[in-house]
Formats: sequence, structure tokens, C-alpha cells
Amino acid sequence: MTTYELYINDILCDLSSDEVVTLLYQSPIFSSLDSIQSNRSYNVALPPTPTNMQAIGQAARPEVGKLLPQVKNIIGISSGKGGVGKSTVAANLAVALAKLGYKVGLLDADIFGPSMPKMFQVEDARPYAEQIDGRDLIIPIEKYGIKLLSIGFFVDPDQATLWRGGMASNALKQLIGDANWGELHYFILDTPPGTSDIHLTLVQTLAITGAVIVSTPQQVALADARKGINMYTNDKVNVPILGLIENMSWFTPAELPENKYYLFGREGAKQLAEDMNVPLLGQIPIVQSICENGDKGTPAALDETTITGRAFLELAENVVKQTEKRNAEQAPTHIVELKK
Ligand SMILES: Nc1ncnc2c1ncn2[C@@H]1O[C@H](COP(=O)(O)OP(=O)(O)OP(=O)(O)O)[C@@H](O)[C@H]1O
Ligand SMILES: [Mg+2]
Repeated sequence: MTTYELYINDILCDLSSDEVVTLLYQSPIFSSLDSIQSNRSYNVALPPTPTNMQAIGQAARPEVGKLLPQVKNIIGISSGKGGVGKSTVAANLAVALAKLGYKVGLLDADIFGPSMPKMFQVEDARPYAEQIDGRDLIIPIEKYGIKLLSIGFFVDPDQATLWRGGMASNALKQLIGDANWGELHYFILDTPPGTSDIHLTLVQTLAITGAVIVSTPQQVALADARKGINMYTNDKVNVPILGLIENMSWFTPAELPENKYYLFGREGAKQLAEDMNVPLLGQIPIVQSICENGDKGTPAALDETTITGRAFLELAENVVKQTEKRNAEQAPTHIVELKK
């Protein structure tokens, strides 16, 4: 009997013998949860893959493909370029979908730069866990009628998360597969910028119904948006694109409501949507209140009497329309197989 006290990723280096070992596994997420014992025993016959590991006294996490059986549509929000408004769009889209009467979950998949705790003003939230069907499951935080999880609930916001790719990927899988998401019509994934390991983990863990690409009209953002589209439509990934959102399309000062200033160029994302034959789901102007509401934790979409609130509601209606069209016309997405 051998006892290791290491992260699972570190253990991977040592998998050589075929003896049975007991691992004391401090997961990146659970170790910071007071309500859960951080040291857990796992009984493993070596050499397994980490996904074969089972906690003693706990039922195993369902295998990939059987996760989230009650979730109907999974929508990835992506961009390519950073800072173009993915998280703002993800938060407001989730709020607007909930306002339309849908059951909505929002996963902050930006493990290294989570935004959602601030955007929903729940920075102090610490989700607890509940035993459900023999497994300890994290209970998502609920705010504005949305179920929400972020790695930001489990790590110190002032500390940089110095994790290897594998650890980030494990944490992400826990947020997906070890949480009680329940029944959802829409599960929104706010992804990090670029085409990263995290995106790969997402398409290897979930059958993403469709991707929504956010871009500003600026040429450098558009070039990256193109890459974002190609990552999903790549024939090994095959996630349909539901459409493109042009964010920061123009600026209108409050004192000159008729004027539009095209700070990042004019209709670039609209043009890209036409070129790449994907629908344009909406054009969102630069509005000071969108930024301020993001910082205050009260997404602009909460108030549909404002122009910005209405814009996000319209955007949500377009996302629903395109999702229904996609489901009617195309086969379900396949999860990308993990190369061993
Ligand atoms: N339409 C808008 N009008 C005004 N401010 C906006 C708008 N969209 C986004 N912002 C602001 O721009 C900044 C970047 O937005 P956000 O964090 O949503 O981008 P992101 O693409 O998620 O960034 P990252 O790549 O770092 O994850 C934020 O301060 C946000 O409040
Ligand atoms: Mg973001």
C-alpha cells in the first residue's frame, strides 16, 4: 500500500507500477472549500488514467457523454481576441434568456481570469456541496434567476492562479461534472480569450450545441474572430457557429443621441459575418452604463426599459432562434475524443 499526497497531475508522472495505491487527493477546488473535507482517499489500480479514479465511498463521476443529462443547449461564447466583451455578452445574454423565461446556467470557464463573481456581485459567495445520489456535488450560486459557477468562488481573487494546464482542465471538469446543474434550457460558457487548452477541454467534455463569436469591428479583432470561428468549425471539432456579435459597434454620447462615432471601424463584424456565411446576431454600441453595470454586478440586461437592456433582449431572442434552427437542421454535436 503506497500513500501519495499530491495533486492528480503530479501523480501522473509517477504512474508506473501496477500495484493498488491509495491517493490522498487535494483537488484544486475542494481544497479551498471549508464545508468539504479537503483530504480525500482514492483507491486506484495502477496504471489507470485519472478519469478512472474513484473516491472511496463516493459514486464515480458519470463518464463524458453522460454528464449534464438535463441540459438541453450548451452555448460557448468565444472571441479570439481578449477584451472584446465576451464576459459582458455572456452575463447579459444569460440574464436576458432568464427574462425570456428559460432556465439558465452560466459557467465562467475563464479559469485564469474569472469575471463572473464581479459581474454578478457575488465575490463573497462560497458554494457548498450536497450529497446527491452518492456524490458530493457543488451547488451553483443563484443570482438573477441564473445558476452560476466560477473558479473565482474557490480561489483568492488577489492571487495569480499558478496552475499547469492539466490542473486548470481538472478544475474546469469539476465545475462541470461535479456540480448540481440540474435542468437547464441554456448552459452558457464564458470562455477565455484565444484558442486555448480550456477550449479543448470544453469540446472534449461537453457536446457544445453552438458557438457565439464576439468581435469588435476592428481589423485586429476580426482576424482573431476568424480564428475563433475556424477552431469550432474545424472538422475534428465540428461545433456549429450560431452567429457573430459585433460589440462596441459605435459610440453615441448621451448629449448627442443622433450621432454615432465608429471608434473601432464601421460594420467590420457585420462584413465578416457575411464573408463567413454566419448570422449576425446583434450590434451592441459602446455605452458607459454597460461598463458601469458590469462593474456594479447589475448586468444592463436586467432593465429592459433601457436601450441597452432591449438590445440584449433582442440578442437573446436571436440566439434562441438560431439555436432552434440549428437543432432542427443539424445533427447533435459529438464530443471531441480524447487522444491517448
Ligand atoms: N458594449 C460595451 N460598452 C461599454 N463597455 C463595454 C462594452 N462591452 C464590454 N465593455 C467593457 O469592456 C471591458 C472588457 O469587457 P469583457 O471583460 O466583457 O471582455 P472579455 O472579452 O471577456 O475580456 P477577456 O478576454 O479578458 O476575458 C469591460 O470593462 C467591459 O465592462
Ligand atoms: Mg472575459
